[in-house]
Amino acid sequence: MPPHRVYVARLLPEPVMAEIRSRFTLVNAPTLAPPSPDQLRLGLIEADAAICTLTEVITSETLAQAPRLRIVANCAVGYNNIDLDAACSRNIVVTNTPDVLTDATADLTWALLLAVARRVVEGDRLIRSGEWTGWEPTQLLGADVAGATLGIIGMGRIGQAVARRAVGFGMKVLYTSRRTPVSVEAKGWQAVSLETLLGASDFVSLHVPLSADTHHLIGSAQLRFMKPTAYLLNTSRGAVVDEAALMEALNAGRLAGAGLDVYEQEPVIHPGLLAQTRVVLLPHLGSATARTRTRMGMICIENVTTVLEGRPAPNRVA
Ligand code: DGY
Repeated sequence: MPPHRVYVARLLPEPVMAEIRSRFTLVNAPTLAPPSPDQLRLGLIEADAAICTLTEVITSETLAQAPRLRIVANCAVGYNNIDLDAACSRNIVVTNTPDVLTDATADLTWALLLAVARRVVEGDRLIRSGEWTGWEPTQLLGADVAGATLGIIGMGRIGQAVARRAVGFGMKVLYTSRRTPVSVEAKGWQAVSLETLLGASDFVSLHVPLSADTHHLIGSAQLRFMKPTAYLLNTSRGAVVDEAALMEALNAGRLAGAGLDVYEQEPVIHPGLLAQTRVVLLPHLGSATARTRTRMGMICIENVTTVLEGRPAPNRVA
């Protein structure tokens, strides 16, 4: 039996599970469902390493009850579910899975953008309802994407990938970012203030990590800067947007629509959002392609292996 004991919070794609089983001894039998806090606690007690997902909340108390734990490899680029300070103070390494999900997440952002602008989901529903009576001159008129202005909040890897895709649509790209990304100016993308971006953009897309600074970054005040013809897209983390404020703006007609992949209280969806026809809702699918999820899992395995062998983890965040 392999000497290192690993806890895996949820069943990952089969090639990843096969690799985990060949390299480590599993301390649990993961399923597709998230573990209960008790299952998580009990699993971690015995583990040298853990491979978790964004649904596992790893608090200081959780870590305090994991005496052997040396690494938590989070199978996500975001790691807001883990108390990094607590991990650091216990010398537990935390890693994430950057880069491999950049394209998948940018593609999904575009799927939402096109879906809300061109009313794709409403059209599909109309066909399935059996009530479509044929082509009409003013049926389901949407918004033009080509030539529109795209505002990107957070110009990291995913923000830049979303911006690159805008070139094909001849869009003007505005952005806000904590750091000025290398060679962005050369592409003609313009750094502006948040207020300017919100006021000038036809599509506003969020690509910031969730932290105390970005919690409710888009609230009532920010939504009021947006044009009533504009759309909000969120493939980052739900709590970056104040959902109640978003609902209020949509209901008051101060926003044309929204494309959301993430929610404040997943998997609970604000009931008002479910009733809104101009909102496209996806179940947190940003990185959900077979290849991407497999690559994310393999990165977790690499990080766990290096730490358990006493080498520096390639994707250490804490
Ligand atoms: C991430 O990696 O943070 C994504 O939300 C997972 O799909």
